[in-house]
Amino acid sequence: MACLAPMQTLRQSPTDPGFVQDPYPFYARARAAGPLVWWEDYGLPMATTHAAVNALLRDRRFGREPVDPPPVPEHLKPFYAVEAHSMLELEPPRHTRLRSLVLRAFTSRRIQALAPEIAALARDLVGRFPDGAPFDLLDAFCRPIPVIVIARLLGVPETMAPDLLRWSNAMVQMYQARRSRDDEVAAVAATEEFVAFLTDYVARRRSDPRDDLITALIAAEQDGNRLTADELITTCILLLNAGHEATVHTLGNGVARCLDTGARPGPDPAPLVEEILRHDPPLHLFTRHA
Ligand code: HEM
Repeated sequence: MACLAPMQTLRQSPTDPGFVQDPYPFYARARAAGPLVWWEDYGLPMATTHAAVNALLRDRRFGREPVDPPPVPEHLKPFYAVEAHSMLELEPPRHTRLRSLVLRAFTSRRIQALAPEIAALARDLVGRFPDGAPFDLLDAFCRPIPVIVIARLLGVPETMAPDLLRWSNAMVQMYQARRSRDDEVAAVAATEEFVAFLTDYVARRRSDPRDDLITALIAAEQDGNRLTADELITTCILLLNAGHEATVHTLGNGVARCLDTGARPGPDPAPLVEEILRHDPPLHLFTRHA
């Protein structure tokens, strides 16, 4: 990446309500300041352009694992004990092993097969919208769809959806810029409940194989050296958490933009979905370490 000018420093509180509501004017200012700027409030450089982000993500010297991680405070240990096995935070060869096990559940055949079920679920939820009265689309539509679909893919009873949502919402507060001590306590309590549920559920499912991801992960664990019991639990939690949070807000942002702009899907909805992901995505910042 050619970047000979000194990096400019920018200041912007990530918790400022105006920024949270509409971060794009700041991003435009940052892009105008160069492909790499120093974001003072985070104490980190930020890549601002597609070319710069692309170059960094492809550069093998950069990874997700922090080079010199700070010690974990005592009260957060149960949360980070689960995170320690998350492929989202790992490098090869552990990342490759965990990822290849999970990819079995995401074959195009299996995803295609889910389409009619997802359409039926969407129609059912739309049919239950209150007549005429205002309602929150996030609760009535965007939250239930991803958690139910992922529960089915994984093989967790969908009657667990309210608990899965509660645990997941509490755990993802750990990634918020404005997280408080109360958020941390709630995230640890949710982690412990989630681990207890999955430990018990996996034990019961060992003798009950089906065509789902938990069965595949249990087989890999029983195989001895492919997956540990802790990795099995963390992988289930990661899929349920990573899988629904971003999707909920893509649905919400996407519907809001379609209403604002009048955009509607064509016979192939993929271009509109891709444009929604590009135009107003649910996740903005990811860290890399070198
Ligand atoms: C619109 C929806 C989604 C968006 C915008 C999104 C976004 C992302 C992004 C940006 C990353 C990369 C993080 C990094 O490189 O540091 C990621 C990783 C991941 N996401 Fe998603 N995601 C979505 C849906 C899902 C779904 C539905 C699932 C699973 C059911 C899922 C599971 C994962 C997992 C397991 C990883 C880690 C992958 C790895 O480390 O190899 N995501 N997601």
